[in-house]
Amino acid sequence: MLELEFFNESIYPFPPKPLKLDEQQRSEYKERIKRLLIEKDAVLVAHYYTDPEIQALAEETGGCVADSLEMARFGNNHPAKTLLVAGVRFMGETAKILTPEKTVIMPTLEATCSLDLGCPEKEFSEFCDQHPEHTVVVYANTSAAVKARADWVVTSSIAVDVVEHLDAEGHKIIWAPDKHLGGYVAKQTGAEMLLWQGACIVHDEFKAKALRQLKIQYPNAAILVHPESPESVVAMADAVGSTSQLIAAAQHLPNKQLIVATDKGIFYKMQQVCEGKELIEAPTGGNGATCRSCAHCPWMAMNGLQSIEEALVDANGKEVFVDEALIEKALIPLNRMLGFAQSNKLKVKGNA
Ligand code: 13P
Ligand code: SF4
Repeated sequence: MLELEFFNESIYPFPPKPLKLDEQQRSEYKERIKRLLIEKDAVLVAHYYTDPEIQALAEETGGCVADSLEMARFGNNHPAKTLLVAGVRFMGETAKILTPEKTVIMPTLEATCSLDLGCPEKEFSEFCDQHPEHTVVVYANTSAAVKARADWVVTSSIAVDVVEHLDAEGHKIIWAPDKHLGGYVAKQTGAEMLLWQGACIVHDEFKAKALRQLKIQYPNAAILVHPESPESVVAMADAVGSTSQLIAAAQHLPNKQLIVATDKGIFYKMQQVCEGKELIEAPTGGNGATCRSCAHCPWMAMNGLQSIEEALVDANGKEVFVDEALIEKALIPLNRMLGFAQSNKLKVKGNA
């Protein structure tokens, strides 16, 4: 097992939050953004963890709100010349790799991810070199350089299926960077996997003990968990999955109360498909403990109306660039994932 200092707050201090705007300002920003999106032939692609107001704006303007896999697909297929990606850096980079001919801008390029930070290319590459007989599978939450080193890129919505397929073909696997998701995938598939020891600072905070206490309070509630959470939390789940899979589970489960262990930005879309159901935040800090993230990603929170407008007015310093040689290499494992997703969908349809 690798032992890494994957995230150190003093090295990577939390970023500042966007300025608080009053209602009048927010509505003026939204009107200007709508105009600018048309003027610049841009489309807003937002992740489920961004501010609900940004998600609503993406929906209203013909953009999309989605998980990281769907964001990548949507941007790739949409005719707009400019993709405005509200999320974190790796999502903007993925969009650029898939559609290098488009301009990809982000409200801020500072919005990163503890998984990306915890998996530097040089160290990761050295690790892969030490295990040349392994197939390298990396999570989408990584830099373009790490993707370029991989055989496969996966998102949480497709990780189990891809690893199951690789395992059936007899591959031994290096998995990076999330140790909890990797552990979950290994358990689900029985695959032989070497796990990089990264973690998401948001999901790593969910606490099984406090969750057990909450479940006593809400005995009829179903528990929904993103697999970046610790194993003890995943073990209590009625549904485990990516953001979009959790939204689907919330819709289909019969329970009227749902305890949700993922970033609370997801509540906006989840509530839309769960009218009348009560959504309850899973506990993060436990009794009296400190809470670093409180179920909201500090980097997702950097996306604000003001920075969205700024990016549309002047892309300088907000445009995503990826080295051409890296694009060429990173495209291979990314396209493998998209091709696999497509053929899996066809298979499912064919069986239906
Ligand atoms: P999804 O792939 O489920 O959208 O998750 C991305 C992410 O960053 C989870 O923390
Ligand atoms: Fe990264 Fe976690 Fe934030 Fe997702 S929630 S972007 S995994 S730090």
